[in-house]
Amino acid sequence: MNSEEFKNQVVLITGASAGIGAAAAIAFGAGGAHVIVHYNSRRDAAAQVVKEIEAAGGSGEIVQADLSHPEGVNTLTAWLKGRDVDILVNNAGSLVRRSRVLEFTPELMEQVLYLNFTSAFFIAQAVLPGMVARKYGAIVNISSVAARNGGGLGALGYAASKAALSAMTKNMAKEFAPSGIRVNTVSPGTIDTDYHRTFSTEQMLNGVKAATPMGRLGTSEEVADAIIFLCSDGARFIQGQAIEVNGGFLMV
Ligand SMILES: NC(=O)c1ccc[n+]([C@@H]2O[C@H](COP(=O)([O-])OP(=O)(O)OC[C@H]3O[C@@H](n4cnc5c(N)ncnc54)[C@H](OP(=O)(O)O)[C@@H]3O)[C@@H](O)[C@H]2O)c1
Repeated sequence: MNSEEFKNQVVLITGASAGIGAAAAIAFGAGGAHVIVHYNSRRDAAAQVVKEIEAAGGSGEIVQADLSHPEGVNTLTAWLKGRDVDILVNNAGSLVRRSRVLEFTPELMEQVLYLNFTSAFFIAQAVLPGMVARKYGAIVNISSVAARNGGGLGALGYAASKAALSAMTKNMAKEFAPSGIRVNTVSPGTIDTDYHRTFSTEQMLNGVKAATPMGRLGTSEEVADAIIFLCSDGARFIQGQAIEVNGGFLMV
């Protein structure tokens, strides 16, 4: 990547203390960006990501917010007031807890939808006026293969929230295209991150590898590459689309 590709641009990445978000943050840093590294529980990891952004040639800062409830999202949107954000990557997300349909509680459903979908909407709503004023901006929403295949057992809320996020991408892409803002989705398959150390068994991951034409899980850097592309000038006519990064696991 050109080391000046994102120079003078401010990039907000939610959930950038680990996995895909951290890899994207460092990649934007390599393009000269100033990266706002949002985290929830892992402050030290977020601070380490800022160090890696700086080593790669960019700059960064950290901000904390729990995005699974309205107060946490308000904390972040209040912090964003008066700051210009050129690129937003709505990446924070989690399955929270596997739960079969008949055991799903209203509280769990609310938490999963808020974290994976509603928070992304309100964060976008907070940064869009500035993008409109500057007639420039890019938003990438991190969905999931679960949005298309319904997710694994116990992941109904997660899959539904990711499908909502994908629909949000298309709606926002239509409304803000005339303002020079591009909105797209990156939809990862199974990527080797902490997410699976929490939510998947070895047996589940071996099953995914066996069903994947490329025969392996993806890496965070491979997803970050698709995010970077969608925010680059090379994607200037790509609007409201989803790039599936899944090694051929699901072809759409
Ligand atoms: N890994 C996969 O196979 C896969 C597949 C499809 C889609 N995705 C999506 O890709 C995105 C990144 O996943 P990942 O695999 O990189 O996960 P990860 O390594 O577990 O990282 C998740 C990130 O989200 C943040 N986060 C989690 N709960 C949060 C909360 N309540 N409030 C605010 N932030 C919260 C975490 O912050 P802290 O660590 O600081 O708490 C962390 O930075 C997610 O949206 C996920 O759904 C992942």
